[in-house]
Amino acid sequence: MRIGVPLETKAGETRVAATPETVKKLIGQGHQVLIQKDAGLQASQPDSAYVAVGATIGSAADAFASELVLKVRAPQASELSQIKSGSVLIGMLEPFDNNNIAAMAAQGITAFSLEAAPRTTRAQSMDVLSSQANIAGYKAVMIAANEYQRFMPMLMTAAGTVKAARVLILGAGVAGLQAIATAKRLGAVIEASDVRPAAKEQIESLGAKFVDVPFETDEEREIAKGVGGYARPMPESWMKRQAALVAERAQQADIVITTALIPGRKPPVLLNSDTVANMKAGSVVIDLAAGKGDNGSGNCPLTQADKIIDVNGVKIVGYTDLASMVGADASALYARNLLDFLKLIIDKEAKLVIPTDDDIVAACLMCRDGQAIRKNS
Ligand code: NAI
Repeated sequence: MRIGVPLETKAGETRVAATPETVKKLIGQGHQVLIQKDAGLQASQPDSAYVAVGATIGSAADAFASELVLKVRAPQASELSQIKSGSVLIGMLEPFDNNNIAAMAAQGITAFSLEAAPRTTRAQSMDVLSSQANIAGYKAVMIAANEYQRFMPMLMTAAGTVKAARVLILGAGVAGLQAIATAKRLGAVIEASDVRPAAKEQIESLGAKFVDVPFETDEEREIAKGVGGYARPMPESWMKRQAALVAERAQQADIVITTALIPGRKPPVLLNSDTVANMKAGSVVIDLAAGKGDNGSGNCPLTQADKIIDVNGVKIVGYTDLASMVGADASALYARNLLDFLKLIIDKEAKLVIPTDDDIVAACLMCRDGQAIRKNS
């Protein structure tokens, strides 16, 4: 099969969907791979590294004209129109965007969106949300350390003692847990919270203190368990108690990292404007949900997507492409996720076979031969 890998065109995107490591394996399986010129350059993979493992370098049109197109981001309209009817597209294609699914179906293609893979043990090696969120959690701490005008660890020097930074992490899923681990290595004192009860043990095992928002009804307790590993929107009463506790903890914090998401919905507001107004000058907020809320906000309504703003001395960082800022490793992990997914839909003769009875394949299938399959309510 001919596999094409286009250069990603979204502003700020540095990742590439295949690395020389995965291309070598694909060629070993009997495929031809065409990489668009400079597709890997920003991920530290020059064309020569792909040529060295047997790939061909070509134009965007060449890459999009392939039978199988591997992408990072959902294609823009001008890119989608270049994919031939009957071809297969795989990437992070925004499975909750009905317009996007309809547009891909109208192009007559078959498309798989890997963000839709179930949270099961078998799907772990192709879980793009986990591989990329892990990187985002790490980078959030790096950016926070950079923006914060003080040390992270406690230091005892001849000129006096410097206190350790206090870091508050809201949402302790994949990104939040990596943020805890990374901030811990830098010597910070960490508190963290999550709605899912399972997160308590994980937070504590990384050496952070769990900030507990108690449940008052069975309904709250039940909703908090989430579904399929993901959180569900919590009742208003619980959100109010959470906001009060966050307001108290945020006043003590030097750095707040928010990571809370609910699939297919706007992110919950965890750090409201009044709370930010009461934070210490010099504090830093990193909002990993930036761009997903109203008007580009995130877990904080003041956040502005892709900007750093200053609110009375509190810096709020709204970058939306943190994984892209670690482009080489983000691509390496993403490309391996893709390679593992391909094993499910390509047989030993290097031919495409789509087993719709496979739960991972079925969950990721957005449209097939021009027909929309996934329907979001
Ligand atoms: P996510 O990116 O959808 O959300 C991030 C975090 O925000 C989650 O931990 C969620 O519970 C939390 N959150 C949502 N609303 C909140 C609120 N109002 N207040 C506080 N926190 C809130 O989730 P992510 O990181 O993709 O995965 C969550 C969990 O899924 C993981 O921690 C893990 O337990 C599970 N998982 C399981 C996998 C497997 O079994 N193969 C693979 C990956 C994750």
